[in-house]
Amino acid sequence: MQRRRAALFGATSRIGPAIVSAFSEDTSADAWHLYLIIRPSSKAPKLPENSRNISVHTLPADESSTQELADVFEKLDCSVVISSLNAGLADLHKSIAEACVAAGVSRFIPADYGSIRSDDPWALDLMVNFRNKAFVRWRCQRLADQHPSFSWTSLATGHFFDYGLHTELLGYDLKKGTAQIFDGGDLPFSASTTAQIGRAVVKVLSHEKETANKMLLIQSFCVTQNEVAAEIERATGKPLQRIQVDGNTYLLENAAKAEKGDAAALEEAVAVCGILRSNWQGRPEYGNTLLELDEEDMREVVRKEIGST
Ligand SMILES: NC(=O)c1ccc[n+]([C@@H]2O[C@H](COP(=O)([O-])OP(=O)(O)OC[C@H]3O[C@@H](n4cnc5c(N)ncnc54)[C@H](OP(=O)(O)O)[C@@H]3O)[C@@H](O)[C@H]2O)c1
Repeated sequence: MQRRRAALFGATSRIGPAIVSAFSEDTSADAWHLYLIIRPSSKAPKLPENSRNISVHTLPADESSTQELADVFEKLDCSVVISSLNAGLADLHKSIAEACVAAGVSRFIPADYGSIRSDDPWALDLMVNFRNKAFVRWRCQRLADQHPSFSWTSLATGHFFDYGLHTELLGYDLKKGTAQIFDGGDLPFSASTTAQIGRAVVKVLSHEKETANKMLLIQSFCVTQNEVAAEIERATGKPLQRIQVDGNTYLLENAAKAEKGDAAALEEAVAVCGILRSNWQGRPEYGNTLLELDEEDMREVVRKEIGST
């Protein structure tokens, strides 16, 4: 079988490995060969065992011009390019999108995977990382308007749930046994496991027509902080000490520090945003149905993840 070819930038980011795994595990990815594009200075990405449709391609230099990227896409004969790069790399994303057009690539999936949607004017006002994502999407849409053979899809995912359980992204510190609870803890928020996001990327490729030039909101489930806290307590058999926090005050304090370049404050601000403003239920852009992506059971995910700490 002649496989179609896709290229992935950022295979070693926080979401890259899950996209790579989905290409090796998901049967709908059998039609694809995935090239992991790395720089000469990059650390080598881990390839899944027995992966028959994934290989690494090293760029000639750490910095590449748009033309050099286009040459790579042409040489590899890619029809799809996926990014899971850091969202701060807006200029590189712009170059990749322009190189896609020059090389005849039909679909670009820029790195969004946002805890909240990056077209939320409230978020754009507050934080540079969402402005970067919005700028890249705007640039992609301009290119799509000018070149009908080119299109893009981006995925807003809510918080990375499994990653968030093992860090403090979701407000829980499992080592200290504490839970930072925002605004009472009963606000529903959408979240996705990293495996679910990997599957969603693969599903976009088998639904190319329906997903063209769209930002889709995907999730594993929509839950509240109190529901997750109760499940953590059930799984560990230990009560969490709940620390009640006013979400808006916490957010504004951290967003102000983040705008001055404080990276830790940016993570804190994104953490609270993902809980206060990411309920995808009933939204027209809800993407699970279009992608034929089943939701998951939060309780099972918590039990699986807490069991592995
Ligand atoms: N929703 C959530 O909860 C959540 C959580 C985390 C991240 N995210 C999103 O996930 C995406 C990835 O972010 P991240 O923070 O995980 O990224 P990251 O850890 O900073 O990883 C960056 C990746 O980009 C590669 N890279 C950096 N500069 C490059 C260049 N010039 N050329 C080629 N490759 C380059 C790095 O590889 P080398 O440096 O080895 O080359 C690495 O693989 C972003 O869109 C982010 O917003 C979402």
